[in-house]
Amino acid sequence: MTLAENDISEGSGQWTGFPAAMPAGIVYGGDYNPEQWPEEIWRQDAELMAEAGVNMVCVGIFAWGRLEPQPGVYDLDWLGRVIDLLWAKGIAVCLATATASPPVWFSRRFPQSLPVTREGLRIDVGSRQHYCPNSADYREAGARLIRQLAGRFGSHPAVALWHVNNEIGCHSNRCHCGKCAAEFVRWLEQRYASVAELNRAWGTAFWSQQYGDWSEVRPPGLMTTIGNPCQELDYQRFMSDSLRDVLVHEIGAIRELLPDARVTTNGVSWFKPADYWEWFRHCDIAALDCYPDPQDPLAASHEAALCHDLYRSFKGGRPFILMEQVTTQVNWRPVNVLKKPGQMRALSLGAVARGGDGVMFFQWRASRAGAEKFHGAMLPHFGPGGRVFREVKELGRDLQALRAVCGARTTAKVAVILGWENRWALELDSKPVALDYERIVRSWHRPLRECHIATDIVPPGAPLDGYEVVVAPALYQLSAAQAADLAAFVRRGGTLVMTYFSAITDECDRIWPDGQPAMLREVFGMAVEEWQPLPAGHSNGLLPAAGGDAVDCHEFCEIVHCEGGEALATFTQDFFAGMPAIVKHRHGEGSAYYFATQPDADFLRDFLGKLLAERGIAAPVAADPAIDVALRTTAEQEFLFVINQGDSPGQVRYGEWSGAADLLDGSRVAESESLPGFAARVLARPR
Ligand code: GAL
Repeated sequence: MTLAENDISEGSGQWTGFPAAMPAGIVYGGDYNPEQWPEEIWRQDAELMAEAGVNMVCVGIFAWGRLEPQPGVYDLDWLGRVIDLLWAKGIAVCLATATASPPVWFSRRFPQSLPVTREGLRIDVGSRQHYCPNSADYREAGARLIRQLAGRFGSHPAVALWHVNNEIGCHSNRCHCGKCAAEFVRWLEQRYASVAELNRAWGTAFWSQQYGDWSEVRPPGLMTTIGNPCQELDYQRFMSDSLRDVLVHEIGAIRELLPDARVTTNGVSWFKPADYWEWFRHCDIAALDCYPDPQDPLAASHEAALCHDLYRSFKGGRPFILMEQVTTQVNWRPVNVLKKPGQMRALSLGAVARGGDGVMFFQWRASRAGAEKFHGAMLPHFGPGGRVFREVKELGRDLQALRAVCGARTTAKVAVILGWENRWALELDSKPVALDYERIVRSWHRPLRECHIATDIVPPGAPLDGYEVVVAPALYQLSAAQAADLAAFVRRGGTLVMTYFSAITDECDRIWPDGQPAMLREVFGMAVEEWQPLPAGHSNGLLPAAGGDAVDCHEFCEIVHCEGGEALATFTQDFFAGMPAIVKHRHGEGSAYYFATQPDADFLRDFLGKLLAERGIAAPVAADPAIDVALRTTAEQEFLFVINQGDSPGQVRYGEWSGAADLLDGSRVAESESLPGFAARVLARPR
């Protein structure tokens, strides 16, 4: 059973889509900030939203100052008028808890609620998210506001979903105030029970860092040089928990009055400071904000695809919402290029292809003032007469045509392991090289996507029984239990692919004794003696044992000794020449592959493609790598998404899908075609 299947039967049985209170069909809309506009504009907005096919908007996200203009004085009437106006047009709301930006009066009255930097400087008001996640004043004031909103609007038929806070921790995720320091020590006491155990875990014998009692312990402050790695790791764990507690606390405040309220929060793509595996357990629906740089369309779509697979996987395969993206351009990169015509549609449909049942934007109407006035919107400054609004309306029609897809599931036989703690530990400093986990994971997810193979993402330690192939890129931190699970997976017949710089440390960032890959030497039939990073721009060569030309490889050359494993490829250069670069080993009923380097992308795609084919895992149709191919199924139907994420034409051979009907334009597909840049098809057929 896969993680996905494990989780579907909640309550009344099979999950078929969003809860009944949600708009029928794919959710479409964006953040709506009416507090920035006079009432006559609200009416135009509602008209234009209806014209665009919008069926849900998120309201009130940054409206605390308007909702509680003075301490304890609430003004909710205007929001009531907004919600009524929208509902009259059939537009539902995802009601925000409005806690993302505390009003100025609050921060002045409770200065201790402002976060403190590592240098000990207190952040001031003037932007947003200026609160310490552990501030009781912030949490209590937020809960009071939420109770007001829940009491007033909780039973309004327009309120389909609650939007808890906004991108919690996105700007402020490491507070060093006194409250956080005290909470950190409490957190450590719970984790380690005694100072002696803390000293053991943190390895404080190194550099004379022993603590005598709890009163001496602090969060990592300013230091002369490299700090204690486990102190840093625990502080990251603690801050992730503190930010999660903001979420949990707000959900609790909503459910005091509305026990059945449906809640979500918007995750920041793949956000390092917060362990979303843990966070989204508390939400009914996973939702993400995703802003890949559109300049390189393929890189953007790869980045987004990994996030979509991740957010689908957070809730065991249930539909997620793409809560924020931009129609055209953001305002926060040094250079903010426009999405090309058709690119926003292709990226949006890409989210639906991978299990999204909601496509939304930041924001509905472009702001006139403030820090984001140059940020794209569904309704830009130019008004409804231009390309942007035309594309918005077209997307609305497309999503209408895809209503039947709602609730359809993805079945994956392949999983990629992705862990937050692993990232925190891997990216701590003082390694052979500064490592970028996100980049490494992407470089292993990308070829799977280019082979058009459905892929789930799983946390370390997740049950793997439903998968045939599991890929573990740079799984640096590995517990004994996780190692045992991976070994059992291979013994039972699974194929495990693991890369360089894996299975090195335990949960305290201490190096496992007895060689690497720790506890898995027997599984991989090899051992790593030394780690050699390759500086950017440097490469080695990889010569396949089966014949063929050498290809480039990057990132790492590890010195590997085979201990029963077979070298499928060897290095060609430097003193590594002739040493194993890829090792395969049969273990029990399965196979384990170890990559001591990062091969050239085309080689990796071919290699993984063959490995998958050997296991009978095949793409639904044959298509160029730039084309997104994804299958979603319900009990009755199958839906095949074929989306060209590149800006030039790509080839597709439809095979057994030839002649199937395209839900987007009603046509039937031929046997093969050249699909223009950014063009998409969604084919449907009965199961
Ligand atoms: C998100 C945020 C939005 C808006 C957007 C701009 O991170 O949630 O409120 O700021 O970025 O790209």
